[in-house]
Amino acid sequence: MSEFTVVAIDGPSGTGKSTTAKLLAKRLNYLYIDSGAMYRAVTYSVLKNKIPAAETEKIIELAKTLDIVLQDEQVLLNGEDVTSPIRNIDVTANVSAVSAIKEVREILVAKQREYSLTNSVVMDGRDIGTVVFPEAQYKFFLVCDIKTRAARRQQDFRDLGQEIAIDRIVKELRKRDEVDTKREESPLRKADDAIEVDTTNMIIEEQVECIYRKIVPK
Ligand code: DC
Repeated sequence: MSEFTVVAIDGPSGTGKSTTAKLLAKRLNYLYIDSGAMYRAVTYSVLKNKIPAAETEKIIELAKTLDIVLQDEQVLLNGEDVTSPIRNIDVTANVSAVSAIKEVREILVAKQREYSLTNSVVMDGRDIGTVVFPEAQYKFFLVCDIKTRAARRQQDFRDLGQEIAIDRIVKELRKRDEVDTKREESPLRKADDAIEVDTTNMIIEEQVECIYRKIVPK
């Protein structure tokens, strides 16, 4: 067991996972790792190289060659700053298919585990408490009503200058939930020993405080 602490935060998208994890890491003075950004970076590269989703072998070969660096708030892919483009709607629509590939997951999970060898980390994703760090000291599973999740996602897109209809976002979220929870490889599910946090009626500060207090009691 490593001398460093791991806080795993899992749940579907739009539950406020990333923002909560980022602020929590700052408060704990731990490193924040957005594992979803790594799957998005691979997907961005797949699209850029015009590899069809069905060409699994080609996607695996490509994934092996990629240098993905998470540095502060930035995501670097082979040295290119892809922080914004990995959030666009095309990447978002294709990331579930790419992240369902077993070998892609193996490559990225190995990278994710490396971070905990030299740092205490807060990592958010879908399988952090179940697969990446089953021995994590702290595990949280965030849930939230779908309408609230869609509204939050819509605001995220707006912040990037993209206006997307709410119905489209709800459809996209449902589809992504379906693929993420039903896939064979590391499906999205709550670890038996994770604490469930319903964020529907919480603002970000409340989410952070709620989780922080479970780690550092008053
Ligand atoms: O958290 P996010 O929306 O940025 O994640 C993007 C996609 O990556 C999500 O649809 C599922 C996938 N993902 C995953 O399979 N495993 C993780 N640990 C993190 C994300």
